[in-house]
Amino acid sequence: MCGIVGAIAGRNVVPILIEGLKRLEYRGYDSAGIAVLNGGLQRLRSTGRVVELEKIAGSLSATVGIAHTRWATHGVPSERNAHPHVSGGVSVVHNGIIENHDSMREELRGKGYKFASDTDTEVIAHLVHDHLRQGGPLFEAVRSATVELQGAYAIAVIDESDAGRIVVARHGAPLLLGLGVDENFAASDASALIQVTPRIIYLEDGDCAELSQSSLKIMDAFGNLVERRVHISQLSAASVELGQYKTFMQKEIFEQPMAVANTLEVVTSATALIPELFGARAGVIFKETNAVLILACGTSYHAGMVARYWLESLAGLPCNVEIASEYRYRESVSNPRCLVVTISQSGETADTLAALNFAKARGQENSLAICNVPESALIRSSDLRFLTRAGPEIGVASTKAFTTQLASLVLLAMVLAKVRGRLGKQWESEMLNSLRHLPAALTRVLGTEPQIVRWAECLAPHRHALFLGRGVHWPIAMEGALKLKEISYIHAEAYAAGELKHGPLALVDQDMPVFAIAPNDELLEKLKSNLQEVSARGGRLFVLADQDARLSEGSGTDVIRMPDHAGMLSPILHTIPLQMLAYHAAILRGNDVDKPRNLAKSVTVE
Ligand code: G6P
Repeated sequence: MCGIVGAIAGRNVVPILIEGLKRLEYRGYDSAGIAVLNGGLQRLRSTGRVVELEKIAGSLSATVGIAHTRWATHGVPSERNAHPHVSGGVSVVHNGIIENHDSMREELRGKGYKFASDTDTEVIAHLVHDHLRQGGPLFEAVRSATVELQGAYAIAVIDESDAGRIVVARHGAPLLLGLGVDENFAASDASALIQVTPRIIYLEDGDCAELSQSSLKIMDAFGNLVERRVHISQLSAASVELGQYKTFMQKEIFEQPMAVANTLEVVTSATALIPELFGARAGVIFKETNAVLILACGTSYHAGMVARYWLESLAGLPCNVEIASEYRYRESVSNPRCLVVTISQSGETADTLAALNFAKARGQENSLAICNVPESALIRSSDLRFLTRAGPEIGVASTKAFTTQLASLVLLAMVLAKVRGRLGKQWESEMLNSLRHLPAALTRVLGTEPQIVRWAECLAPHRHALFLGRGVHWPIAMEGALKLKEISYIHAEAYAAGELKHGPLALVDQDMPVFAIAPNDELLEKLKSNLQEVSARGGRLFVLADQDARLSEGSGTDVIRMPDHAGMLSPILHTIPLQMLAYHAAILRGNDVDKPRNLAKSVTVE
C-alpha cells in the first residue's frame, strides 16, 4: 500500500527520495509523486512506475523533500489524485484513510478552500494550511490538524515558508524515522532507507515529530516531548535485491529452505521444547489456555487454517480461525482463557491489528503474534511473540512468509501439547528431528520445478481451475488457488475434496483443470474416490502424490511424485509445488508476478 519517504539533508535529496520509492514499490501502488523545497515548492506526479517519475524529475535538486507511492482508496488512480497534495505552500503525503474527510471538506470549502482532487488526503493539506495561517510554526499546525482527523494516518508535511524542516505524524499507520549524520529521514518501512542509514526510530501511535537537518523532536499523543529508542536495522541491501533471480517471488520461493531453517534455528540444537520460545510469560499463559482463536488475513489466514488441525490433534485445544476483517465486526462469544494468536507477515495489516484490539476489548487478554517484522505494531501490541525469520518479503504474493508461519505454528502446537501433557519424550524428539530435516526436504521439493513447468504450460491457457485437498491439505489447496488468482489472474477455487459432489462437480469438464494434493495419509483412499468423480466427467487431473500413494498416471491424469513423505509436516512441503505452479503460469501469461494488478503487499487500511 501507499509508501512515504521524506528527507532533509545538506545534499540533494531527490535521488534519495526516488531510491526510497523504488524500494517501497513492492508494497503495491498505482501512482507516485514527489514534492521538494528549492526556493519554492515544486511538485511532480506520475501514474506510471517510479522510473517514470525519476525521468521527469531529471535535474530536480533540493535539500528537503517528501515522496509517495499511492494505492488508490478515495479517488481513481490518476495524476490529480496522486500525492503529494498541496494547499498554498504546504505539501502533504499520506498513508491511511481519513474517515471524516467528507465533513471536513465541507468545512474547508466554507472557508474558501478549493479542492483539486477526489482524495481524503487533500483535506489534510488544507487543514494544515488553515492552522498555519492562524500563526505558529508548522509543527503546531500539524499537531492541531491531527486533533481534527479521524481514521488512520501516517503523514509527512513540508511548507515552503519554512524549508528547514519536515513534520511527520502517525496514528494507526506505520511510520519510522531514519537518523543519518547531519541528515534525517522518514519512511513507511525501513527498506526505503536502507541506502542512507540503518539507525531507525519507530514512531508510536499519536507521535508527531519534527525533523531538521541536524535535530529531531518527538512529541507523544499527550503533548510530552519524548525520546524513542534507536534501533539498528538488520536489513541488508542484498536481502531486498534480486541477485541471480528474475523476480522477487522466484527468489523468495527458492529462499524457503533457508528461511525455514532460520525460523527453526531456535530449536535445531534443542533436545526439548520450552514455552519461553514464545516469550517470557508464555509458561504462565499457556498453562491457563483452554482454547485458541487465530486471527489473520489472506495467506496468513490460510496458515491459521492449517494450524487448527495441528492444535486440535496435537494439543487437544479447541481452535477457531477467523478472517480478521470479519471477526472484528462479529458478535462472538469471548473466553478469557483463550489464547488469541495473530498471524501476519507485515505486522501492519489494519484488519488484523483491529481484530486483536477487538478481542482484547472483549476480555481476551492473552495474545501471541506470529510475525515477520520485529518492530511491527502487531508485535508491539502482543504479550507473546514468535518471529518468523523469513527476511524481507518483497513479492506481493506471499511465499516464504507462509511456510515460515507454518513452521512456527508446528512449534506452537508442540509446545502447547507438551504443556498439556500430550507430547511424550519420544514423540517430541522425533518431531524435533523431522523439523531439523525440513529445510533439506524443501530443497528436494524445489527440484520438481521442471515437472511443474509442464503443468503450468497446460494450465496457462485456461480461465478457471479447481484445487482439491482433504484434511490439513485443504487449506493448502486454498493457498494454491489464492496464489494462482493473485498473480496469473486465472480464476481458481479450492474445495475440501469431499465437497466436490455437493456443487463444484457441475463445473468439471475437459476445460477445467483440477489440481489435487494426495499424500499417503489416512484420507488418501477417500480422496481417490473424489478424484474418480473428476475423471469420470472427463476432467483433467494433476495430482501431487507420495512415492507410495498407489496412484497411477493414465489418460487425463498427471502425477508428480513428492520426494519425501513428511507426515505432519506434509502441508509445508505441498505448498512449494503450488507456489511454483502459480509462478510459472503467471510468467507464461506475461504478468508482472511481483506487482500483480490491484493488489498491495501491506494492507494498512481497512
Ligand atoms: C495482503 C497481501 C497478502 C497477505 C495479506 C495479509 O493482501 O497481498 O499476501 O497475505 O495482505 O498480510 P499480512 O502482512 O498480515 O500477512
